[in-house]
This record gives sequence, C-alpha cells and structure tokens, in this order.
Amino acid sequence: MDLRSAGSSELPQSGAGNAGVRQLQVSLGDRSYPIRIGTNLLGDEALWSTLLPSVASRKIALVTNDRVGPLYAKTLEQALSNLGCQISTIVLPDGEQHKTLEGFGKVIDGLMQARMERKSTLIALGGGVVGDMAGFAASCYQRGMPFIQVPTTLLAQVDSSVGGKTAVNHPLGKNMVGAFYQPQAVVIDLNTLSTLADQELSAGMAEVIKYGCIMDEAFFQWLETHVDGLMSRDPELLAQAVYRCCELKAKVVAMDERESGARALLNFGHTFGHAIGSAMGYGQWLHGEAVGCGMRIASELSCQLGLIDISTKRRIERLIAAAGLPTQAPNWPAKAYLSAMAHDKKAESGEIRYVLLQAMGQAFVRPVDDQAVSQALEASQGPIELQD
Ligand code: NAD
Ligand code: GLY
Repeated sequence: MDLRSAGSSELPQSGAGNAGVRQLQVSLGDRSYPIRIGTNLLGDEALWSTLLPSVASRKIALVTNDRVGPLYAKTLEQALSNLGCQISTIVLPDGEQHKTLEGFGKVIDGLMQARMERKSTLIALGGGVVGDMAGFAASCYQRGMPFIQVPTTLLAQVDSSVGGKTAVNHPLGKNMVGAFYQPQAVVIDLNTLSTLADQELSAGMAEVIKYGCIMDEAFFQWLETHVDGLMSRDPELLAQAVYRCCELKAKVVAMDERESGARALLNFGHTFGHAIGSAMGYGQWLHGEAVGCGMRIASELSCQLGLIDISTKRRIERLIAAAGLPTQAPNWPAKAYLSAMAHDKKAESGEIRYVLLQAMGQAFVRPVDDQAVSQALEASQGPIELQD
C-alpha cells in the first residue's frame, strides 16, 4: 500500500490562475469521469452542454438543501434551462442529522413525483451530506441513474465528491447504508467557498491536511507555509489546494476503487473521528472537526509506537491547530472510544485496523493492542505543545 508514486506530480504553479478551468480525470475504464475546477462554473452553459450531451440526459433532478439552494440553485437552474433542460428541484433539510434512510426516501419520492427516467440526470448541489445522500439515491433509482456532483464545501470539493462512495447513516453507525457508485462528472465552482462559514472551511482543511500526512510530504510542507492564506480564503491558494487534493484522490481511487487496499489510507484519523462523532451524536462536532482531532490521536499513536518522531507529530498537531480545528480529544474513558470504534465499519472480523504514519507522507494500516491505543487517547486529551 505505497502511495508515494501516486503523490509524485508537482503542485500547480502559483500564478497558473483560476481564470481557466483546471481539468482532471478519474480513470476507471468505461466509468471514467472528468473533474472540472474553476470559477463561475455553475452558470457556465458551454460546460454544462458538454456534460449533458443527450436529450434524455437533459431531464434533470437538482437535489440541494435549504441552505445551499437559496444561494446557488438559481444560477445553475438558469444555465440548464437556457440549454433546454427540464428541471425539477428537490430541496432537503440541511444537516448531518438528516443524512438518514428517511432523507434518502425524500430524494426517491422527489424523483418518482418528477417522473425521472433511467437516463435522466441527478445533479447533487451541496456539501458532503447532499452529495452522499443524493448519490446513494441515484445508485438505487431504477437500479442506477446518472448523476453529477457539484460540491459546495471545501470538504466535498477535496474529498467526498470524488470516488463514488455514497451512503446514509444508521443510528448504530455512520455511513452504514450505501453503495460505491461513480458520478458522471464532478463540477467544482470555487466561488461557492466564499459563503462557507469559517468553521466549515476548517472542517474541509482536515481532509486537505490528511492528504499531506498520508501521501505527500511536499504538499504538507506547502500547507505549513500557506495555511494562513488558505484560512483567509486566498482564491489562488484555495484553487491550488483543491486541485492537488482531487489529483491525489483521483489517483488513489483509480488504484483501488473499492477499498481493498490503498484507499483505506484515506481513512487516516477517521476511525477515531467516527468514534467522536457517534459518541457525541451526529452534528455536535462537524465531520471534519472530528477527523482533525482523530488525526492528532492517530499521530500520537504512531509516535508512541516509535513509527514517527516527536517533531513530525508536533508538525501535524500545529497544522491542525493553525487550520482552526479542535486538537483536544473529548475527555471520555478510553474504553468508551474502543467500544464506539468496534462498531465502525473499518473493524474487520472484530479487529480494529488503524491507519498509522511511518514518516510524513507515508501511511500504512495495522491492528494495535488496546493498551497502546488507550495511552494515545489519554495523551490526546491534553493540550498540544506549541514550541519544540
Ligand atoms: P455538509 O454537507 O453538512 O455541509 C456543511 C454545512 O455547510 C451545511 O450546513 C451546508 O448546508 C453548508 N453549505 C454547503 N455549501 C455551502 C456554501 N457554499 N455556502 C454556505 N454554506 C454551505 O458537510 P460537509 O462537511 O460538506 O460533508 C460532511 C459529510 O461528508 C459527512 O456526512 C461525511 O460522512 C461525508 N463524507 C463523505 C466522503 C465520501 O467519500 N463520500 C468523504 C468525506 C466525508
Ligand atoms: N473519504 C474516504 C474515501 O473516499 O475513501
């Protein structure tokens, strides 16, 4: 599971500008699809006409939520309607607490009521919650209808919209009901990041930092240099970060679409993060916040096992903190974490497998005994060291 070769290409050069549309491809044979990254893409009729070539595909179900819809649906609807599309908009309630089988049912109801056909297109406009839930509905409706991801949070742009993992939560576990189902395209309009709350930007940065930790030391260093600019939403820096993350994710997905190997490394920090999320109740901590704190615990564990040195661990802790993410794990007994993690779907035959670092930019998966995990959890409940 060596991801270093997947992380070998250069960062887009500063000054490449975000005026032009950056293009990537997720290579999966006849299910390959493009990722387009740029500004003003929601209203870009020329782009949409290439993504919706047939008359059948221009019957559209636009799935969004009651927060994102009022901000962005109109621009997209206008562009689609200028192309002669027939659009039905399905508006879901906002929030992770609605990422349920009931929410999924609402999307299916909307598709039925609008008489969507098998070759119609579902467009998911929103963050990871809308993308995961609408994508899952697309995978099931008439045994699978085409869908396009239009992610509007940083987290969804750098991670959830790419790779075809779709799901809803079950009361006993996160993302427990879902399918691998690839979109036809991912359209990333960077302008949408301007309306994102600061806390949501931080949550997205957790997944950005993850890529540096597990597969790209140079990108990690670049993030250390530019974290303040990213947090103040410098558009060129955000464009570069989104591009690099999508490039890395596309490579991992092409190597291991169904997570039988390398893709599992993308779960760095997630096993601990999901335990925080499920024990707190969904929606108390944002997914990205829980992952950020989970990466601190995973780094602590890697350090205590002698896999990385203290200075590498501290670099990770400081970058997580500089991105505005929580670093102190909730003050629960280790056994509460262990029990929550045993429910997580990353447990295999009852054994929890942890994503650990063996150097900055290099990760691997292995089980760890509960005592070592408990020690790392306890150490992660204290403050981080800001000085070496
Ligand atoms: P989210 O979808 O809940 O969005 C966060 C908040 O921002 C919501 O209130 C949303 O309405 C709002 N919002 C979205 N875009 C906005 C914009 N442009 N301006 C203003 N507000 C906006 O959360 P998220 O962080 O995007 O995604 C988290 C979800 O993604 C979790 O359910 C997680 O499980 C899932 N996820 C999936 C994958 C995958 O591979 N499928 C990967 C990572 C995370
Ligand atoms: N976010 C983890 C994955 O897509 O595999």
